[in-house]
Amino acid sequence: MSWRRRIATISPIACSGTRRFDVDLIVTEDDAALSRFAANQIAEIIVARPTAAIVLATGSSPMATYQELAAIVGRERIDVSRLRVFQLDEYLGLAADDRRTLYGWMRRGVLAPLGIGDEQVVRLPSDAADPELASQQYEDAVAAVGGFDLSVLGLGPNGHLGFNEPPSPATAPTRAVSLTAESIASNGRYWGGAELVPRAALTAGMDLLLAARRTLLLVPGAHKRAILQTTVRGPITPEVPASFLQAIPGVTVIADRAARGEAPLPEPAAAGVGVGAA
Ligand code: GLP
Repeated sequence: MSWRRRIATISPIACSGTRRFDVDLIVTEDDAALSRFAANQIAEIIVARPTAAIVLATGSSPMATYQELAAIVGRERIDVSRLRVFQLDEYLGLAADDRRTLYGWMRRGVLAPLGIGDEQVVRLPSDAADPELASQQYEDAVAAVGGFDLSVLGLGPNGHLGFNEPPSPATAPTRAVSLTAESIASNGRYWGGAELVPRAALTAGMDLLLAARRTLLLVPGAHKRAILQTTVRGPITPEVPASFLQAIPGVTVIADRAARGEAPLPEPAAAGVGVGAA
């Protein structure tokens, strides 16, 4: 399947063939400018392909971008009625109407502002009785649309994408995962304490995210400085799942000055380092 072919070049067994692409790193003045830039990028992609399949993160990083996007969509009368939207990740073990579901956040933060209905969305169910089956159904739904045209992601403090916790190889499929202590702690700020964060989740797989034709990784804030450097300049390794973005084309990392820091980023590490360790 052609949209998957790209991952084969960065799978652990083919590590000697790993190619490193220059990650397109855009640094904006602040989070507001980051959001405007990112929203315009997303809007352009939607205009060019109104039936695009897009996977959208929750988390705090993309929320201002979604607001900007909703404003652009309204102002420019952009048609979003034919988009196919995919949920990036979801906690497991919550009732569908629990206030902590990531789908609820997605509805409030991006779907409702854009006027996108549930029927346009492929979900990862928080109340899945059979997480393995739910994961397979999600993978099948992505395959049915030929892969993601666009992936809008945030960067986890430990380098996770979605809930692909370290270590996650490039081939990791959509699946149920246990959350790391770091993710539980960082997600605690969403819900009023780490004790309220579920311990397991479903995540879109690295296999699907790395096959996306365009990827926007949104990285605002000084607290992301170290992991941003590791992601774009460190070795490509399952220990930092986001580092695999160095190995695929079509990636734009949009950071603000606080996240980039004042010092220039170091030169990239040698291509392919670490991939074989998976
Ligand atoms: C969270 C989520 C990701 C999100 C990332 C960054 O734990 N699993 O989907 O993109 O970590 O979150 P934030 O944008 O709040 O920093």
